[in-house]
Amino acid sequence: MYSNSELAGLIRDDAVHRSVYTDPEIFELEMRRIWGRAWIYVAHESQVPLKGSFFTTTLARQPVLLVRQDDETINLFFNRCAHKGAKVIEVESGRAPVLRCGYHGWSYEVDGRCKHVTGGDAAYKASGYSRKDPCMGLQKVPGVASYRGFIFASLAPDAPDLRTWLGATATSIDNMVDRSPEGKLEVTGGVLRYHHDSNWKFFVENLNDMMHAMIAHQSSAQTARVMGKELFPDDPNPPAEIQILSPFAENTSFFEEMGVHAFDNGHSYSGGKTSIHANYSGIPEYEEAMEKAYGKERVAEIFSLNRHNTVVYPGFTLKGAIQTIRVVKPVAVDQTVIESWTLRLVGAPEEMLRRSILYCNLINSSGNLVGPDDHEAYHRLQNGLTTDAGDWVSMGRYLGNEEPNDEGGFSATGSSDMVFRSQFKAWKNYMTANGAGD
Ligand code: FES
Ligand SMILES: [Fe+2]
Repeated sequence: MYSNSELAGLIRDDAVHRSVYTDPEIFELEMRRIWGRAWIYVAHESQVPLKGSFFTTTLARQPVLLVRQDDETINLFFNRCAHKGAKVIEVESGRAPVLRCGYHGWSYEVDGRCKHVTGGDAAYKASGYSRKDPCMGLQKVPGVASYRGFIFASLAPDAPDLRTWLGATATSIDNMVDRSPEGKLEVTGGVLRYHHDSNWKFFVENLNDMMHAMIAHQSSAQTARVMGKELFPDDPNPPAEIQILSPFAENTSFFEEMGVHAFDNGHSYSGGKTSIHANYSGIPEYEEAMEKAYGKERVAEIFSLNRHNTVVYPGFTLKGAIQTIRVVKPVAVDQTVIESWTLRLVGAPEEMLRRSILYCNLINSSGNLVGPDDHEAYHRLQNGLTTDAGDWVSMGRYLGNEEPNDEGGFSATGSSDMVFRSQFKAWKNYMTANGAGD
């Protein structure tokens, strides 16, 4: 069992101990102390649109059940029957007037109260329980809050205010929502689930690793660049596939200039003034709808924010400019599932959604180009760190070169390790805070 000082000793200013990626005991502690304390993304409100709509997912590996209430509010329950503990709802989503357990048939109102005990209440009279006792109903997750349609939950009863905790990353969510002419998003289509045989932190770090793209994605993105030049030499608007893939093989100075930005609680984003999403062809019908809704000046402001990946540490990541989110689901110390969801900009032409879906398929899917390059890198990291070649993983690039930014965080050149240092500062805070959940 690690003491707090032993855990703190795994994080140096310029390096972390390899066991943070490889030790199953540390992974179990992370589930309680990081994933059990932070705000964790659950779902988008559009996934439970009507009274009785439900959506099932996991929170720090625990099954949970999100249900739209009669008064339009949302409740989040542990997905566990009060009888013998079976998962009450097994399917991912649907709509039901009552929630019924498939094992012995106990049923629950959508607000979690026990509605029916099989065989009637009299069976429990001698043991002193009544259907009305809270322990006979579904149990609520302690913290649930929503920010502009994105629902987060916390297993900690004393979680901080969500908006405050999000800090500057809330403006990445704002920018995604503001890109809808109606200021509204909807999760559309299914989900891409991509199983990785690697620790969750490799993915979370890599999203703001500006040094790997032109190397790890050379075979996919450079090929797209070459093909684009050969097949569409004078076309300023080559097919969207070429436009989406090519920037991943931009040169070093492009990624250095995009920059990285780190904040409290381990949050970060890359890009801002520019990103790999900055130069897609315009869609005139969309631009017209936006200008009609917000006016030229405000639209220019919305479109000028070009962030690449935003990481809401530990497990929610988004790309505002292309309307996709990726959700991290740790499974074991060396097993992680990444979910990719696409959002529709309500009021925007269908072409915008088609571009987001194309992006998700090309970049985030297990069966396509860019994501598998990254997965191969995480696979090699997980394997390389099993060797006896050394215990420390380097995080010292451009140590101390960061500058304060006007959002209350720090900014650095793209290939700086600053974001990783910031994530592990948060990691250490969560893992060693008083009152740790054990
Ligand atoms: S476990 Fe749910 S009714 Fe028995
Ligand atoms: Fe990558």
